[in-house]
Amino acid sequence: MKIMIVYSSFHHGNTAKIAKGMADEINAELAKPEEVEVEKAKEYDILGFGSGIYFLRHHRAIFELVKKLPNMRGKKAFIFSTRGAGPVSLYHKPLKRELLRKGFKIAGEFSCLGYDTFAYLKLIGGISKGHPNKEDIEKARDFIRRLVKFQ
Ligand SMILES: Cc1cc2nc3c(=O)[nH]c(=O)nc-3n(C[C@H](O)[C@H](O)[C@H](O)COP(=O)(O)O)c2cc1C
Repeated sequence: MKIMIVYSSFHHGNTAKIAKGMADEINAELAKPEEVEVEKAKEYDILGFGSGIYFLRHHRAIFELVKKLPNMRGKKAFIFSTRGAGPVSLYHKPLKRELLRKGFKIAGEFSCLGYDTFAYLKLIGGISKGHPNKEDIEKARDFIRRLVKFQ
């Protein structure tokens, strides 16, 4: 099975840790959105898309990539994120909608906390300090292992 994991990680490299853990677990290709050759996207059976959550949604670069993809009917996608706090289903909704619009089936979703020092949070030392930690990364590895196993 050919799998590619696409991620953006700008704030503290939180999502990069999760993406790398997943890719390592299943030997998947890892790429930034700007590195993806859209015409080759259909060569993959499963594509994963993830980033930190910025202003309630995934990073703009992820959306820009998805918009450029051809129709992906018959292919599967999974969504992942790291976030300072707050509701995963709300945060994942905009990306989910775009992926469904492209014809993807959503095979799974994963999210964990990520160290957040945005704006005033810096003044209090940030929130979700230490995340993603070892346990978060292990959960991400477990998630992707199961996802691949049950396809
Ligand atoms: C500009 C900005 C906006 C953010 N907005 C949110 C948000 O709406 N909800 C949330 O839970 N976290 C928010 N965060 C925190 C990040 O989602 C969190 O720190 C994430 O782990 C960053 O991932 P990264 O290090 O891979 O970029 C925001 C961070 C930044 C810098």
